[in-house]
Amino acid sequence: METKRIAEILRQGNPGDSTRVQGWIRTKRESKGFSFLEVNDGSSLANLQIVLNGDYPEYEQILKTLTTGASVEVEGELVESPAKGQRVELKAAQVTVFGEADETYPLQKKRHSFEYLRTIAHWRSRTNTLGAVFRVRNACAAAVHQFFQERGFLWVHTPIITGNDCEGAGELLAVTSLDLQNVPRGDKQAVDYSQDFFGKPAYLTVSGQLEAEVMAMAFGNVYTFGPTFRAENSNTSRHLAEFWMIEPEMAFCDLEGNMDLAEQFLKFAFKSVLEACPEDMEFFNKRINDTVLATADNIINNEFERVTYTDAIALLEKAPDKFEFPVKWGLDLQSEHERYLAEKLFKKPVIVTDYPIEIKAFYMRVSEDEKTVRAMDVLAPNIGEIIGGAQREERLDVLEARMRSHDINPEELWWYLDLRRFGTVPHAGFGLGFERLVQFMTGMGNIRDVIPFPRAPESLDF
Ligand code: 4AD
Ligand code: MG
Repeated sequence: METKRIAEILRQGNPGDSTRVQGWIRTKRESKGFSFLEVNDGSSLANLQIVLNGDYPEYEQILKTLTTGASVEVEGELVESPAKGQRVELKAAQVTVFGEADETYPLQKKRHSFEYLRTIAHWRSRTNTLGAVFRVRNACAAAVHQFFQERGFLWVHTPIITGNDCEGAGELLAVTSLDLQNVPRGDKQAVDYSQDFFGKPAYLTVSGQLEAEVMAMAFGNVYTFGPTFRAENSNTSRHLAEFWMIEPEMAFCDLEGNMDLAEQFLKFAFKSVLEACPEDMEFFNKRINDTVLATADNIINNEFERVTYTDAIALLEKAPDKFEFPVKWGLDLQSEHERYLAEKLFKKPVIVTDYPIEIKAFYMRVSEDEKTVRAMDVLAPNIGEIIGGAQREERLDVLEARMRSHDINPEELWWYLDLRRFGTVPHAGFGLGFERLVQFMTGMGNIRDVIPFPRAPESLDF
């Protein structure tokens, strides 16, 4: 007899089929001469109803072990279900309990808040919402590879441990073999790095971009998809200390090609997830945020808005809204500004380009006006910045000057400069925060609820 996934049984199983399922009991209901178990195996939101007849051998005894949270294997025959919303249920002929769960199992029937569930992250994947989130996350990850592989991009593995700070934002988490127990927080002077594993400071990467540029200079189009790390002290619903980033990098490409790729990718990702997880997406729309399906439709069917930073500032100056932070050419856009543009004004994703040179990273290509760089941020309704990218500076002299003005020692990035010394080409790429994308798709309010084991300041329980 074949073991089947519950999602498949509910979709394709027919009365009369013999089948075996394995999973965990969500609930048990006893009535005269029967018991009903709702069993879930993670394959879908829906549970399979198991009917256990009162004449089952040692019925009373086995019933005591069939509790919420217990793991079971059930063999039997599918029968038509009288209950509405499900085609079939399983008439149990053989029930095996692998592991019992007593009444202290934390996921008893009542609802739990997402805050509480974070404190039991090892159990929360068994809840409806987190189960749906992680199925969507999986479908979205598969879509990432499908999209880039179909277009001939090479998946490259950039290092997790690095000696450079790509973004220059100083949000580095150090990697060390030294015992730093007695070194005060942030006191670098107190550390003798010559005794350290690498003989110099090492960090968890904040972005694979610089190494992806190396690979693009050999393969043309490449992408990374892996974990990145930032010692963000912001305790917000949009920031994690460990998050996954998708970073395509394209040789012989400018900012227009970069914007086109970002837009095509987001459309593809939404379409793929709707196809792969229709029930989960409907669940989010019904239970979490009633704009989820409309948002997906909006992304798939409308062209994104594209405005320059300069035009965005003019639009913000004319806005009827009162902002907390000032709007002025030269200042970075705050999330209230980003949300005004994406949510209120354009009501769809907005790609803002050509930011002032002073507020962006050293590697972005300087425009002819010498006041702006060829940067792009994709701003999404409800999320704000979901993508950050740029055309890269491919001219050696300009790049060296930019490094110096950013206090970056060109010698430390000699290999990066080498790319401009030999066979340099115009190139561009972007970074998409994977968790922000999953949040955007599912409507989940807090980014900590779209990654199985969230990393945030002062939180490392799992
Ligand atoms: O805008 P960022 O900092 O861009 C880069 O790191 C570039 N090197 C990417 C590139 O061009 N290859 O980060 C890119 C995206 C942001 O738009 C955001 O979606 C996400 O990464 N992100 C975070 N997501 C969760 N938690 C954090 N702390 C994040 N910081 C950035
Ligand atoms: Mg950014």
